[in-house]
Amino acid sequence: MTQTTKKDSWSSLLSFVWVAAGAAIGLGNIWKFPYMAGNSGGSAFVLCYLFFVFLVAAPIMAAEFFLGVSSRKNPIDAFLSLAKANNLSKNWAITGYLGLFTLWAVFCFYSVVAGFSLAYILFSLQNKFYGLNPEQIQTVWQDFLSNTPFVLICSILFIFFTMSVVFFGIKKGIEKSCSLMMPALLVLLSILVIYGFFTPGFFKACTFLFSFDISKLSSSVILSALGHAFFTLAVGACAMMVYGAYLPKNISIFKSVFIITLLDLLVALLSGLAIFPLIFAHDLSPSSGPGLMFISLPVIFASMPFGSLLSLAFFILLFFAALSSSISFAEPLVFLLIDKFNIKRNKSVLIIGTLVIIGSTFCSLSFNLLNTIKIFNKWNIFDFFADISTNLLLPIGGLLIAVFAYKVIKIKNNLLFKIWQFLIIFISPIAILAILFHGFLEIIS
Ligand code: PFF
Repeated sequence: MTQTTKKDSWSSLLSFVWVAAGAAIGLGNIWKFPYMAGNSGGSAFVLCYLFFVFLVAAPIMAAEFFLGVSSRKNPIDAFLSLAKANNLSKNWAITGYLGLFTLWAVFCFYSVVAGFSLAYILFSLQNKFYGLNPEQIQTVWQDFLSNTPFVLICSILFIFFTMSVVFFGIKKGIEKSCSLMMPALLVLLSILVIYGFFTPGFFKACTFLFSFDISKLSSSVILSALGHAFFTLAVGACAMMVYGAYLPKNISIFKSVFIITLLDLLVALLSGLAIFPLIFAHDLSPSSGPGLMFISLPVIFASMPFGSLLSLAFFILLFFAALSSSISFAEPLVFLLIDKFNIKRNKSVLIIGTLVIIGSTFCSLSFNLLNTIKIFNKWNIFDFFADISTNLLLPIGGLLIAVFAYKVIKIKNNLLFKIWQFLIIFISPIAILAILFHGFLEIIS
């Protein structure tokens, strides 16, 4: 049985990069980025997103790694011990509690969409979309969503896969699986981009994603790009802090953050270049929203040669991306039980898995049995989990982490460090307060 000890650490820079890139690269890159770019005018969104990823979210990722490596503890004890050592209030531990709660909430809604990818892997294996027209494909999607036991089983199965990886510990479970899944994901994605390159929609897709049109910039485009930068780099919930707690001593944090950020951007852009050429080649709308993946793409796959094979490759890709991220929700929660409460890894996995299944079940049911429930007359249960955790809890966590790291992390005579300090104490907080304000306006509107 694998029990994490405080001496555990990643084997090398490369394995650490795969694991942290695995947390960053997820449904946010492959499912959310294309539909958000599609809804927000393409290139204008992409440009803002690039800007925010580098100037706001990446510095907070470095902050999380610094905090993790200097405490090597679970998030709550990390805040407590660093606050004590720097004569700060022990209330900073609230940031740790908030982060862990956020991870649970994100895991609950994330596992539902990840479960959809499992269902669509099955549909692709059955060649279910072959010869169907767009209305029939829409019906497949709606029938699937209203099939309560099936939706539930898919998300529970996904949680089971995640917890199984975490059960095997950081080296045999997380490091091994991410070091296999991430390169496989890059290969699959490249195959899909090469396929897209030979379709008539490729040029249109590039123009859509990369030609900058200032008239498309609006405050909501800017702020949604900012919110997404946070989500995509997996910052604000202490997940990267826990991964940082396992960092070997000699690894450069800034260099790692740079590589992880580039990989994350690469996957988002390649996903756009895999999906939009198909959308344009079939005269579909790039702005069809969250259904882009589960309706528009199957429509395309149904009408092309080797469609079911491509569809299978695509949904496996989505599954790998989701799994490598969900491991980063589960490990910090399991690590808390091991490190703080001395519970064995197998029991911790069972406890956390059960808690996530409970929340995820409510999210799944909001597509069928509980679809009439509206929280504050606005959100169904799934949207409530997704919106509150992404647009409220992650940015608040990021803000607290940035301020705390500024106060406790000190490195003398280092230019990069000085730039980092400037970004986390001036740029990130202003940007985060802007997202929160925007979110608040949306809630009351
Ligand atoms: N970065 C992941 C994605 O893009 O899907 C989501 C995520 C992972 C959010 C880890 C937050 C987190 F702590």
